[in-house]
Amino acid sequence: MQQPIRIAPSILAADFAALGGEVRALEAAGADFIHIDIMDGHFVPNLTIGPEVVRALRPHTKLPLDVHLMIAPVDPLLPAFADAGADILTVHPEAGPHTHRSLQLIKSLGKEAGIALNPGTPASLVEPLLGDVDLVLVMSVNPGFGGQSFIPGAIQKIAALRKMIDASGRAVDLEVDGGINFETAPQAVAAGADLLVAGTATFKGGAGHYAGNIARLRGVSS
Ligand code: DX5
Ligand code: ZN
Repeated sequence: MQQPIRIAPSILAADFAALGGEVRALEAAGADFIHIDIMDGHFVPNLTIGPEVVRALRPHTKLPLDVHLMIAPVDPLLPAFADAGADILTVHPEAGPHTHRSLQLIKSLGKEAGIALNPGTPASLVEPLLGDVDLVLVMSVNPGFGGQSFIPGAIQKIAALRKMIDASGRAVDLEVDGGINFETAPQAVAAGADLLVAGTATFKGGAGHYAGNIARLRGVSS
């Protein structure tokens, strides 16, 4: 069942010289999760941060840290991100030969397990894994950069996954990531998403606008 809409600001659009303060500001502004994009310059054509930055951010917020791993191979680094204080670890199936094993490893580390689907990866790939995940992330851009445009094909994929999740009867979050703004957020929600990642749209206008932006993304006018 679709849950109340939650907003996960991506700190990819934050001031990287002041990440602790940014995370505190996001919590104060009503964010539900903190989305952290981990990129390795190999699986995706950009390089961001590693587990030590996640560890440094952990004391700055009580919100769940939603760690989106765009790294390959992913399995060897899962324990480090778990130990650093991640709450959710999301992997791409293309990041290793045995997705089920990666998900089992995440669960054995005591964390919530997510699977991320690139725009070219079909929803059906999730079907045999649905019993092993807490979250499905639909990429609505090709991963690697913030500020890209929403790919409309994501809507159909979200709708297909909403049906699949509801038929399973399991409580699985359906997250959408990339190009989410005040126009695309309601479309993604109408299709069945209940967890919205937003980088550019959250940070637009500076810290004085975070609360208003988050409320508006959630569908609350302000
Ligand atoms: C892209 C990342 C996204 C990104 C979203 O690879 O996974 O989380 O930060 O940024 P916006 O919201 O600006 O598209
Ligand atoms: Zn992301």
